[in-house]
Amino acid sequence: MNTENQNIEVSLLLEAIYQKYGYDFRDYSRASIKRRIKNTLSMSGLKNVSEMQHKVLYDERFFNTLLMNFSINVTEMFRDPIFYQGLVREVISNLSKRSFVRIWHAGCATGEEAYSMAIILKEAGIYERSRIYATDFNEDVIRKAREGIYSIDSINKYGKNYTQATGNQSFSKYYTARYDYAIMDRSLRKNIIFSDYNLVTDHVFCEMDLIVCRNVLIYFNKKLQNRVIHLFIDSLTPNGYLCLGLQESIKFSDYADQFKEISRKEKIYQKI
Ligand SMILES: C[S@@+](CC[C@H](N)C(=O)[O-])C[C@H]1O[C@@H](n2cnc3c(N)ncnc32)[C@H](O)[C@@H]1O
Repeated sequence: MNTENQNIEVSLLLEAIYQKYGYDFRDYSRASIKRRIKNTLSMSGLKNVSEMQHKVLYDERFFNTLLMNFSINVTEMFRDPIFYQGLVREVISNLSKRSFVRIWHAGCATGEEAYSMAIILKEAGIYERSRIYATDFNEDVIRKAREGIYSIDSINKYGKNYTQATGNQSFSKYYTARYDYAIMDRSLRKNIIFSDYNLVTDHVFCEMDLIVCRNVLIYFNKKLQNRVIHLFIDSLTPNGYLCLGLQESIKFSDYADQFKEISRKEKIYQKI
């Protein structure tokens, strides 16, 4: 099939998903969405995107499978240890001067990023006067995030990341190991609020001192990236911080001049 027809089919599929289920993928990066569709096609035995569109409309379970495929949930605790070094150096030391600290993790996947932040805040002595709002549009991953249970193999990797990042304590004090899994300590979970939130269709989340949105904008096209960065500007306090993924930048957005670059390498910005 030629590319033009393929593009039309993909647009019709995304429109059908939006109209039927309210999830809006129309401004996600086309290259990434096409890869996900191709992947789902090869697993489902469906012949083409038009057949997929029909199945999505009449089979909600299939839609949920497709949704899981569209939301890429790869994550780690202390992912990119170098980022956490920058975070502690440039952001946490300043936030600790505020009487109360509100942090939003937008696109938190299965929660590892939020638990990493809780550990950082505990070690900085400001956890008790902080709230971490950790959101994702995928309800399944939010459920897992709330449980805070990870495989022992993952935990071992996260421990190594922690040591490289900031770790000056024993990582094992933050979880209880049981056979082949580990449960994160309840004291970390206490001030984290996990909830569903869709960056494309939901509204401002107010008065945040820090927004961490790492490895999410990379899946959006420029128009949607602009919408989300504008949403972050409205959600931040004056001088609030924004942290993006190492492959992301606000440099090419329409709102670059509304932020000061705090650390280029670690993608840390401050609202002017
Ligand atoms: C690759 S993960 C990144 C997880 C974590 N921030 C990190 O860097 O390790 C991307 C996450 O963004 C979420 N996501 C994608 N589109 C979203 C949207 N419109 N609203 C909220 N979350 C979204 C996905 O469900 C997924 O959990």
